[in-house]
Amino acid sequence: TQYHIAVVVGSLRKDSFNKQLATALARLAPVDFTLKQVPIGELPLYNQDDDTHQAASVLQLKSDIKAAHGLLFVTPEYNRSIPGVLKNALDHGSRPYGDNAWSGKPAGVIGVSVGAIGTALAQQHLRNILAYLNVPTLGQPEAFIQAKDGLFAPDGGIGEGSKQFLQGWMDQYVAWVRQHTA
Ligand code: FNR
Repeated sequence: TQYHIAVVVGSLRKDSFNKQLATALARLAPVDFTLKQVPIGELPLYNQDDDTHQAASVLQLKSDIKAAHGLLFVTPEYNRSIPGVLKNALDHGSRPYGDNAWSGKPAGVIGVSVGAIGTALAQQHLRNILAYLNVPTLGQPEAFIQAKDGLFAPDGGIGEGSKQFLQGWMDQYVAWVRQHTA
C-alpha cells in the first residue's frame, strides 16, 4: 500500500515556519508514505446556510481528506489557540451533518512557534476538536518546537539539532497511521 497523508498547515503566511516544518517533515517519511499539503486559504468563511451547496474549494478539501489514509496537522499557535483559518477548515470538512470527512482518519499534531511553549496550547485545543470529530490522534511523543536559528537546514530539511527527535516523532506517527489502517 502507498499511504497518502493530507497535511493541513495552520498558517497562510508565505514564509510560514509551520509550512517549512511540514515540507521538511515530509522528507523524514518512509518511501511508502506520500505527504501532500492541502490548501485551506481559498476556503470561504464557514456559513451553515451553504451546507446544501458547498463551494468547489470546500468539496475539493473534503475529497482530499476522504481520499487520505491519514492526517498531519502542522499549526502555529494564535493567541493561545489554533488559528481561525484552521478552525474554518475543520468546520467545513465536518459538514453537512452526517458527512464528516475527518472521521476515523488517524492524525498527528505538531507545530512550531516563536514562543517558548512551542504551540502547546494550540495543540491541546486542536486535540479537543479532533476528539469530537472522531479523529484518533497520536498522543505520544508530543512535539513542541520553538523556531530558532538552525531549526531548518539550508537545503530545507530539518537541521542537525532537531533531526533525531523529529525522525523519532515521524516514526511513531507512521506506526500510528499503519496501525489504524490495517
Ligand atoms: C502569534 N504568535 C504566537 N506565538 C505563540 O507561541 N503563542 C501565541 O499565542 C501566539 N499568538 C499569536 C497571535 C497572532 C495573531 C500571530 C500573528 C502570532 C507568534 C507566532 O508563533 C509566530 O507569528 C509564528 O511565526 C507563526 O507561525 P508561522 O506563520 O511562521 O507558521
